[in-house]
Amino acid sequence: MNVRPFVNRSIVASLISALLLIAAACGGGAPEQNVDDPLTAVAEFASIGDEAARSKALFVEAGRVIQHPRCLNCHPSDAHPRQGELLAMHEPPVVRGEDNHGESPQRCDTCHQGANVDHAGIPGHPAWHLAPLQMGWIDRSLAEICEQIKDTERNGGMDMKALLHHMEEDSLVGWAWHPGGDREPAPGTQAAFGALIRAWIETGAHCPDGEEGAHTVSAAPWNADCQSCHELLFE
Ligand code: HEC
Ligand code: HEC
Ligand code: HEC
Repeated sequence: MNVRPFVNRSIVASLISALLLIAAACGGGAPEQNVDDPLTAVAEFASIGDEAARSKALFVEAGRVIQHPRCLNCHPSDAHPRQGELLAMHEPPVVRGEDNHGESPQRCDTCHQGANVDHAGIPGHPAWHLAPLQMGWIDRSLAEICEQIKDTERNGGMDMKALLHHMEEDSLVGWAWHPGGDREPAPGTQAAFGALIRAWIETGAHCPDGEEGAHTVSAAPWNADCQSCHELLFE
């Protein structure tokens, strides 16, 4: 028996996966997803009999997206967007300004274009700006985020239907799955994320508690740069 067919098959297989990787890297119509870090499918939660417990578990899984740096960097609980995997201060330092689009001359759209500009490493979208302060997620626990996104006083007046639509369809949210450059995409796909949120709503939209509910992601700590700029400006 010769082993050639096997060798050929594996070469073909690696060629195909190399091509898929290239296609994914070029974004050439390939599905926008993080294959290395998929989301658990809604069906997997069916074994949790208690509906409230199932709802909480669904939100914890969706929380892997919500508390991912791609979302958090635009949802700070202070005046500054963050960047990178460690939520570092945005370079150059910019502030949200009155309308969350930055303060002249550092308006967000001075640098951020309608789409990612990969050769310059700048992410983009036509509506690129910060989520309003009351929608801040950095330094807030998953349980706190869960409560505030349900609260029409703080979520921009969205009922559950609008909230689901935003999570499932909004293209600014969707940017997190094709962030460009070396940025890690949010887990799974926007569709899988939307399915988790839908199932969470259908099971009563319960918020997680305990250790999982307490999970909090913080920005890079206060440093000498923050200090010197703030002293200069505020004292
Ligand atoms: C002077 C140019 C400039 C301005 C003005 C600017 N940005 Fe940026 N921004 C950049 C560049 C360049 C990067 C990419 C840095 C990197 O990833 O290394 C970036 C990255 C980001 C990221 C990081 C994305 C991620 O997940 O890593 C966010 C969020 C962001 N900007 C938000 C904003 C917001 C909101 C505004 C307006 C308040 C703004 N930026 C204004 C140049 C700018
Ligand atoms: C480029 C910045 C940016 C990124 C990236 C971003 N958002 Fe937002 N987000 C906003 C803005 C701005 C709003 C305010 C809504 C509006 O004005 O349309 C918002 C609002 C929201 C809301 C409304 C409810 C609330 O209380 O926050 C949800 C939910 C949301 N974003 C989810 C996400 C998720 C999930 C991700 C990541 C997958 C994400 N966003 C990434 C800018 C961003
Ligand atoms: C280039 C100057 C500059 C740098 C660097 C800077 N900031 Fe700021 N920061 C500002 C300005 C200006 C404001 C006020 C913006 C506003 O209110 O719109 C501000 C506001 C804030 C606020 C809100 C304060 C309040 O009372 O409203 C916080 C929190 C904050 N900065 C944290 C930081 C942290 C943390 C760092 C470092 C990681 C940092 N800043 C770096 C200029 C800077």
